[in-house]
Amino acid sequence: MDELVALCKRRGFIFQSGDIYGGLQGVYDFGPLGVELKNNIKRSWWEAMVYDNDNIEGLDSSILTNPLVLKYSGHEETFSDPMVDCKECKSRFREDQLKNGKCDRCGSDNLTEPRPFNLMFKTSVGPIEDEKNYAYLRPETAQQIFTNFKNIIDSTSQSLPFGIAQIGKAFRNEITPRNFIFRVREFEQMELEYFVKPGDDEDAHDIWVQKRLDWWDQQGVPIDNVELYNVPREELAHYSKKTIDLMYKFPHGNEELEGIANRADFDLGSHSKKQSELNIKSSVSKNKDSNSKLAIQDEGGDWMVPFVIEPSAGVERGFLAILNEAFTIEDLPEGKQRTVLKLKPHLSPIKIAVIPLKKNNEEMVSHANVLIKELKELRIGRVVLENTGNIGKSYRKHDEIGTPICMTIDFETLNDGSVTIRDRDSMEQSRIDSSSLKELIIHKIKL
Ligand code: GLY
Repeated sequence: MDELVALCKRRGFIFQSGDIYGGLQGVYDFGPLGVELKNNIKRSWWEAMVYDNDNIEGLDSSILTNPLVLKYSGHEETFSDPMVDCKECKSRFREDQLKNGKCDRCGSDNLTEPRPFNLMFKTSVGPIEDEKNYAYLRPETAQQIFTNFKNIIDSTSQSLPFGIAQIGKAFRNEITPRNFIFRVREFEQMELEYFVKPGDDEDAHDIWVQKRLDWWDQQGVPIDNVELYNVPREELAHYSKKTIDLMYKFPHGNEELEGIANRADFDLGSHSKKQSELNIKSSVSKNKDSNSKLAIQDEGGDWMVPFVIEPSAGVERGFLAILNEAFTIEDLPEGKQRTVLKLKPHLSPIKIAVIPLKKNNEEMVSHANVLIKELKELRIGRVVLENTGNIGKSYRKHDEIGTPICMTIDFETLNDGSVTIRDRDSMEQSRIDSSSLKELIIHKIKL
């Protein structure tokens, strides 16, 4: 982990937020390379969900959330962690994360009884700060998917089974943020709510577990490095009928990379008021404040509350797993080593570095700039000029940040347009004719 953290700071992937003022615990900023990697992960998820499936729609809902949404979702009452205080050193911890029931800081077992600490951030809305004018920062993106269920049904032609996908920020006031970007207070989720007929939920759950394993594999987190954890009943979230966690061996230990929950009709049922009037079967509706029926008619015209399968992944956790898999230190001849990020090319922050062999050769530099302009038109991501005149140094830098292609402009290029391409992983170099260059690049970069 220490090496990864150092690389992230040195190369501009991740910075502590507000670090010139001592930072803010559990909050991070993504630098020039980090934002590219993050965007590429999110784009890959969005493509796999929304573009590859005609029955999945996208949504981008608000972060500020009406408290009634989170009252009926059960979060006001149950979205808490057990907090204990150390009576000796006054530190605060999550009881379920203590080792042998002892204070993590001073080792004392003189602790308070655990009490529930609600993880939601509250903020005041409008100019008057009082008990009535508040909203929550959403603790999961899922809830506005449920509250928009009817809007999306009414504005699209979807029928069951269908899904709604969303990527966005979520906030949790973690008692003890830890392990770099693994457990943080502000993070991004990639969540799909996939609605099915009651009774079809268990098969759909199995299918989504497999699809999500395959997706992680394509991002460079091999299926063999992910274990399935069938969450025991006593550990299930309040809304879940069954949850399978994808567990990954992070540098700090084996932890959840993604959870795939069967939320049954808990949420749509909870947010619906009109169920009894319409004789809709749902196990959970107690809502007195909503005017919605979050239900759908089957072929026979009967109303039903669909069940929902929810693959829910944290972008930062994915980022960490992907970096951890890609981070490699290789031995080279003569006792040398190189650090290389073997990222899947579609995720790499920079796709191509164009390197003129001679820094001060105007012809080479201007040829490089013309080529860069053409490569940018391919819309494959960032293409940069590396005009240091030091090929070895440029290779080392781009190995370390995961650039899959380094392209050298030399004297031969000026004669016939051919370039030397150096492959990041094999370090092999090949001379490529200008006529086949673009095709080869697209082949190498696209998933
Ligand atoms: N929506 C599931 C979660 O936030 O954990």
